[in-house]
Amino acid sequence: MQHLRHCQGLARVGLLGTQRAQLLKDVAPAVAACAGPLAGRWQRRGNSSNDQSGQAHSGFNPRWPHLLAGLVAGTGAVLAYGLRNSQSGQERIAIEPASQSSIEPVSQSSLPVYTQEEVSRHKNLDDGVWVTYKGGVYDITEFINMHPGGDKILLAAGGALEPFWALYAVHSQEHVLEILAEYKVGELNPEDRKRQQKVSDASDPYSTDPERHPALRINSAKPFNAEPPPQLLTDSYITPNALFFKRNHLPVPQVDPKTYKLEIEGLPKGSVSLSLHDLKTRFPKHTVTATLQCAGNRRSEMNSVKQVKGLNWGIAAISNATWSGARLRDVLLAAGYTPEVAAKARHVQFEGLDRDVTGTTYGASIPLVKAVSEFGDVLLAYEMNGEDLPPDHGYPVRAVVPGTVGARNVKWLGKIVVSEEESKSHWQQNDYKGFSPSTDWDTVDFKSAPAIQELPIQSAITTPAEGTSVDRSMEEVTVKGYAWSGGGREVVRVDVTVDGGKTWHIAQLQDSEKGQEGTAQTPPPPTGQAWAWKLFEATVPLPPEHQELEIMCKAVDNSYNTQPDTVAPIWNLRGVLSNAWHRVTVKINEDSEE
Ligand code: MTE
Repeated sequence: MQHLRHCQGLARVGLLGTQRAQLLKDVAPAVAACAGPLAGRWQRRGNSSNDQSGQAHSGFNPRWPHLLAGLVAGTGAVLAYGLRNSQSGQERIAIEPASQSSIEPVSQSSLPVYTQEEVSRHKNLDDGVWVTYKGGVYDITEFINMHPGGDKILLAAGGALEPFWALYAVHSQEHVLEILAEYKVGELNPEDRKRQQKVSDASDPYSTDPERHPALRINSAKPFNAEPPPQLLTDSYITPNALFFKRNHLPVPQVDPKTYKLEIEGLPKGSVSLSLHDLKTRFPKHTVTATLQCAGNRRSEMNSVKQVKGLNWGIAAISNATWSGARLRDVLLAAGYTPEVAAKARHVQFEGLDRDVTGTTYGASIPLVKAVSEFGDVLLAYEMNGEDLPPDHGYPVRAVVPGTVGARNVKWLGKIVVSEEESKSHWQQNDYKGFSPSTDWDTVDFKSAPAIQELPIQSAITTPAEGTSVDRSMEEVTVKGYAWSGGGREVVRVDVTVDGGKTWHIAQLQDSEKGQEGTAQTPPPPTGQAWAWKLFEATVPLPPEHQELEIMCKAVDNSYNTQPDTVAPIWNLRGVLSNAWHRVTVKINEDSEE
């Protein structure tokens, strides 16, 4: 994504009219950083219409090839970034705003009508790159010239954008469509359009995604990302599968359990292939209750400080389940892992079976020490809460890496590689990393920060909900929520305040389905293996003379880590690791005695 920042403002460079010269001046170094091998071509094209384009050749940034690796989010993302960046420095030119779902002014258009056959003749940079979208024909050659390496865009050349944007539907937004509108050169012949429509419906890569529970709050439908309503979350210590938050980057793959194979590579014995049956029968079944939390949980609070990039998660991109499967440690030992391997290897990479249009799979890695530790409890899980893994959660096999950020818990696991290096995946290298609040998209260097593994201490209030009211006659308010810490660190205390932090009430903790902590049935987890959250509850007297109440909570783990009080000092451009004191404002209803 950093690459995209370097390309700032370029998406519209050919169309900005009088602003163009100034823009070129401003962004010339970025053009070169983006252009790399195609800089010469860009220069040629630029020369034909603008005499300042020669500047574009200077300032080549040797980092850009790495940055391009992050360009996985499809044409829409590229367009989106182009626009966002152009907006920061430029006044937007007036464009007929696109409707939310369509940009097709077919009937009034005075543009030429093209057949699909004519469009298909434009599928390379020499003949021009044309695409169609909802009946419109677009010449995006200039756009591609400004984004060399955007090979995924080229895959759409001469054809319809719909299947690509179906895959990355999160980018099919009004502002993206507005940029596309600027490249419109014609209309698609209506018969071809009808034909295309049929194909595109059938080729929706999400058409085989599973049914989901209607209670989930959807952050993006394709790919599917949703969280349960917070109040439901703490109604049960174990989150029911249907309500467990779902975080997919790609369509849910259809995996046949009969032919499923897990490949293991990078061990001295050579590669090993295991069937689902092998995993279930050759290794002891191990069960662990572990909380999964997305790095972007509570991102919306960062957004309220300053806009970040990413899905606008509330406080429920976190859930707790009981997982069963083979221990990764057992499987690696059987596949030939010996302590000598650790002299060289440092990481265990996971590869999912979900893939994008170019065949790139989801991937992530964890440290080898965690993978092989007797106490790490890393599972190749095939059951979730006593059932086969549901399709959304990785059927038939996923990695469950307790205490570790959700992103490393790779679903639909297809391959494991023991390696000297971390996964090369975009999601390991160029995402899910934390930065200083002062790092912005112009200065961020993803290589400079480690991939998030263990998450920091976290807690949030689920009841009462923001904006609700409590009755004065009740004299007290019951506050409920969850608390969890990464790396197996145990939550030892949750403090709740209703008077701005002058006084704190210590909440009761629940650490199992059975009830309050400290009962005979629930001995504390072994040190370093507290993988599951604790639910908390505090009943706090209502302070007099307040009409509004700000309720806050903070948790403490057994390393005495606690949460920061405000968001601003931990704000970061990706909106990850959001764990400030959680605040909920409720009204006190004075009339309730009547
Ligand atoms: N694994 C694959 N193969 N594909 C994905 O998109 N998403 C990751 C992780 N594993 C993902 C994946 C992220 S970012 C998170 S937070 C968790 O899965 C979410 O797991 P869940 O959907 O089971 O809650």
